[in-house]
Amino acid sequence: MNEIQKAKEILKEYNQNHIVKLFDKIDEEKQAELAKQVLGIDFHKITELYENTKKEIEIKEKTITQISYLDKAKLSSEEKKKFDTLGIESVKKGEYAVVTMAGGQGTRLGHSGPKGTFKLDVYGKGKYLFEILAENLKDANKKYGVTIPWYIMTSKENNEQTKDFLEKNNYFGYDKSSVTLFTQGELPLVDTKGKLLISKDMKIKEASDGNGGTYSSLRSSGALADMKERGVKWVFIGSVDNALLKMVDVTLLGMTIDKNYQIASKTVAKANPQERVGVFCKCNNHPKVIEYTELPEKMAEEVDNNGELKYGESHIMCNLYSVDAIEKISKETLMYHTAFKKNSYIDENGKEVIPEEPNSYKFESFIFDAFEFFDDIAILRGKREDDFAPVKNKEGVDSPRTAKELYEKYWAREIEK
Ligand code: UD1
Repeated sequence: MNEIQKAKEILKEYNQNHIVKLFDKIDEEKQAELAKQVLGIDFHKITELYENTKKEIEIKEKTITQISYLDKAKLSSEEKKKFDTLGIESVKKGEYAVVTMAGGQGTRLGHSGPKGTFKLDVYGKGKYLFEILAENLKDANKKYGVTIPWYIMTSKENNEQTKDFLEKNNYFGYDKSSVTLFTQGELPLVDTKGKLLISKDMKIKEASDGNGGTYSSLRSSGALADMKERGVKWVFIGSVDNALLKMVDVTLLGMTIDKNYQIASKTVAKANPQERVGVFCKCNNHPKVIEYTELPEKMAEEVDNNGELKYGESHIMCNLYSVDAIEKISKETLMYHTAFKKNSYIDENGKEVIPEEPNSYKFESFIFDAFEFFDDIAILRGKREDDFAPVKNKEGVDSPRTAKELYEKYWAREIEK
């Protein structure tokens, strides 16, 4: 059986006859491409994910408890010094690497292109999000006399553009040999009947598989092996869209080393029950983040004995792992979350359909779902004004305007120090 026949057999087995028919409508070159794509898709997995859309998500409240944390601002000076010393020692030994998740596009922001290429209007001249991150790392390098290896995760959709952008801007002065780009995986989009959507270029329409794909992509791309070869022991994974992200927090690192944890996270106190952030908790005694889209209102509003939000430690995508933890997670299967979205597609007559209502499922795994594989997590609460200036929406909350203000205020305070 040749590749095309093999692909057709699989499609028939999984009830995707509309794609079998598509083969008759395209030229030989496209047929070969489509067959290759079909053979690379895990149809068993995608069928299972589709079947799961019919089930309700269940959060069993009785198993959920509050998470404990240390507040950075309330550490005694001895404790802070102990953590900082341990952290600095490890960074200086070259044991620390950083990963930026930059697979997302700036859709919500109204920016066409990779989110890291968005220019935040600071100090009149403006700075790109990638530039802000590079500056943060360069500062740490200078402080600790090292060059921290920087791994940037792109998506198939934005890899070329990201690479060109960084090249054009000379990696914002970062040592190019210490920057590695790797690409995350994709999953097909599925309609309400379980059929895979077809894209304009006569392929199966796929989309990024969520930032939980970071771990397996780190391994499959060889980035993890590269880290080990460099002697890296600790890996920070952060987002591309927080203008105040501290990628090298030696207190967080030292605290994790001191307490002998495998994973850690910096949080900030949730601003209000409705804030669109994931929150930490413990589920069946394992650390967990409940995403804002899945947090029941009642839980969001619950307060503890101190009058603080019970689930108020916000996940700001400031996460730290031992290299062994990354290796372990990369071999596990994370759960998938489903988003019901509007996606255009090509129908059986070859016409493009642009739906007005959501018509298809997108499956994504989330970075924090890996926390459940561990008994505990070290949580360090930082300060919102120092650590969190998200750039998410075009206007209003978490927008370029609010991030600019937070960024400029932070740096004004730093200069005064
Ligand atoms: C995210 C967090 C949420 C947190 C909030 C803080 C997840 C799933 N959600 O929500 O818990 O409180 O930020 O601001 O992490 N990305 C990829 N590939 C993908 C999808 C996303 O690399 O397939 C990257 C983006 O480039 C970005 C980050 O992940 O750096 C967050 O992406 P986004 O989907 O915008 O998350 P939020 O909904 O803002």
